[in-house]
Amino acid sequence: MNALPRPLVMDPAVPAADFRGAMRHLAGGISVVTAGRGRDITGMTVTSVTSLSVDPPTLIVSINRDASSFPLIQRLGIFCVNVLNADQLDIAERFAGKGGLKGAARFAGSDWSSSLSGAPLLVDALAALDCEVEEIVERHSHGIVIGRVREIRRAARNAALAYWHGQYVAIDHEEDAARMAQVSMSSPRRSLP
Ligand SMILES: Cc1cc2nc3c(=O)[nH]c(=O)nc-3n(C[C@H](O)[C@H](O)[C@H](O)COP(=O)(O)O)c2cc1C
Repeated sequence: MNALPRPLVMDPAVPAADFRGAMRHLAGGISVVTAGRGRDITGMTVTSVTSLSVDPPTLIVSINRDASSFPLIQRLGIFCVNVLNADQLDIAERFAGKGGLKGAARFAGSDWSSSLSGAPLLVDALAALDCEVEEIVERHSHGIVIGRVREIRRAARNAALAYWHGQYVAIDHEEDAARMAQVSMSSPRRSLP
């Protein structure tokens, strides 16, 4: 008779500092999620955007339920993901709340237009993805927002802003191409079956 699979025993008391320390190793691309319409707008810096499926085009973003964007996304059912380029560190900081900026004040100093849905779209973003909420799964402190992508705008640039070990990092396809080539060349080659 086959043995029953044993459940993995997890320590329920993993210290928060250990969890944070582990997650610092995870490099994340920086985006600004914007929500609202007209003058009733806000937005926030996030690293939690992930692609969910290509067909249909859907993505996931985890939003703190206390963030000012969350009730707007819930109420209006729309949001925009603006993927920042390497020169947009100031925008990342504004939308993370630096200097106590809130709501519409975070949008000053950069060019915005309206997406099809009406959510603010950053003109110079590497990519801007206008989304309709498909579902929100509320879990712990956050809401996992599943967005159906309705419109995409893309820039020709290829230099991204990421966050890694508590710091913003620029990744430029041109400048870092040689280093990236070294990494892919030093990885072991797989032989074909
Ligand atoms: C690099 C970075 C990544 C962040 N990623 C997220 C995220 O994925 N989800 C989230 O809820 N908050 C994230 N935050 C925090 C929000 O940007 C921040 O709390 C913001 O001020 C919330 O907006 P509010 O002040 O209008 O509520 C991140 C902050 C930084 C600096």
